[in-house]
Amino acid sequence: MNRIFVRFSLLVMLAVTVASFVIYFVISNLFGDPFEEIALKQASGQIFLLEQYVDKAPADEWLQRLNKVREISRVKFELIPLKAALPLLPAKKEASLMRGEVVLDAADKSFFRRVDLAGDKYIGSEEEVIHAEDLPIDVGLAVKVELVRYVIVALFLLIPVAVWSSLHWRGLQSLSKVARDFGEGNLSARATTKKTSSIYPLAERMNQMAARIESLLEAQKNLMHSVSHELRTPVARLEFGLELLRQDVKKTADGSAAEARMQAMEADLIELNMLVKELLSLTRLDQQQENRHTQFSLAEALHDCVGIMDHALSGKLLKTDIGAGIGLMAGDPRLISRAVTNLMMNAAKYASHQLVLSAHRLADGAVEVIVEDDGPGIPVEERERIFDPFYRLDRSRDRATGGFGLGLAIAQKAALLHGGNIHVAESSLGGARFVMRLPSGL
Ligand SMILES: Nc1ncnc2c1ncn2[C@@H]1O[C@H](COP(=O)(O)OP(=O)(O)O)[C@@H](O)[C@H]1O
Ligand SMILES: [Mg+2]
Repeated sequence: MNRIFVRFSLLVMLAVTVASFVIYFVISNLFGDPFEEIALKQASGQIFLLEQYVDKAPADEWLQRLNKVREISRVKFELIPLKAALPLLPAKKEASLMRGEVVLDAADKSFFRRVDLAGDKYIGSEEEVIHAEDLPIDVGLAVKVELVRYVIVALFLLIPVAVWSSLHWRGLQSLSKVARDFGEGNLSARATTKKTSSIYPLAERMNQMAARIESLLEAQKNLMHSVSHELRTPVARLEFGLELLRQDVKKTADGSAAEARMQAMEADLIELNMLVKELLSLTRLDQQQENRHTQFSLAEALHDCVGIMDHALSGKLLKTDIGAGIGLMAGDPRLISRAVTNLMMNAAKYASHQLVLSAHRLADGAVEVIVEDDGPGIPVEERERIFDPFYRLDRSRDRATGGFGLGLAIAQKAALLHGGNIHVAESSLGGARFVMRLPSGL
């Protein structure tokens, strides 16, 4: 049994019970007690007998007729003093009795009525009350009918609740199973909730969350794998170099060969340090939630980037086309410069003869910074993956041309932190065209 249904049933039962009491209370106040109406109808034969037969008798025969009625009727008709009758009635009915009306007591199956108001039936008759007991009154049936009515209404309310809650419950169960599986390490567990289900949006969110966690963990795993892989080569070379150095020093007393090897080892150490630095800055960007916002002139920042490119161009031509009115933008100028420099370093590395840096403002206020070159370009199927950390195209596996494969990952992170993005396409120059789009952030 699903818990939602149990709770709903209890609530429905409670609500119907409260509703039936409220209905009885309101109707009694507005139109009079419905059960008393029923009781009055059931006692109407006896009242008719009293009013139409006994009361219609001439004054001196009134008692005789009453006695006759007593003989044939199963109802007990007794004469009691008015003073004794009044305490037996609810206070609000006393006035009706005094006016000579029939006062019914449905629960006691009896009624009271004054013999007369003027005392003309017999001596002292105005001080007497006729008390009829054992009237054929039975409101039990009416109560049962009402009860059955409310129970049926309650049951019919519960049917849609049962259907709805069982669908809901099954959906929740399957979501909780997915959450459990995922928690136990099955990262590919996903909810398969139907689009029409009321919990579909929740399932959707959960799936998005699961997909994100899975991809983050996957990226983490790949990163760790690549890091160890990349660190292995220089470390192995260092170890090998050290071994040779030790042998050299043992065999010969010649210091120059040892010196050369030590220089090579130093170069390896520098490479190792560079890798660690790049890696650290990438992980730092990963952890950074928001960038420190300052306003800066984008044109100035881009010209500064061009300024530090000189040594990396190695004879290639660098053209710039930076719109004069490109204006200010808000963000972290160091991060933006870093991203642009990384793109330009790549372009300088892979260009055959020339590279171009251009920037302009779009109609929606965003800025596009474009770096393109006339190099080999990037095959369509690699255009997403090159932004992954450590990912390099085959041709750049060779250390002579490639770095560690972190430059584009860092540039991408910097753009994302500014609410922008980078994508790569083909340049009209023949090589790659990297487009960094940044919202102005102002
Ligand atoms: N302008 C470009 N032309 C051709 N290939 C490029 C260009 N920029 C990047 N790439 C490719 O993308 C890979 C990743 O670039 P990057 O992350 O900067 O790493 P790295 O420069 O350290 O190799 C490079 O190894 C290279 O294969
Ligand atoms: Mg690079």
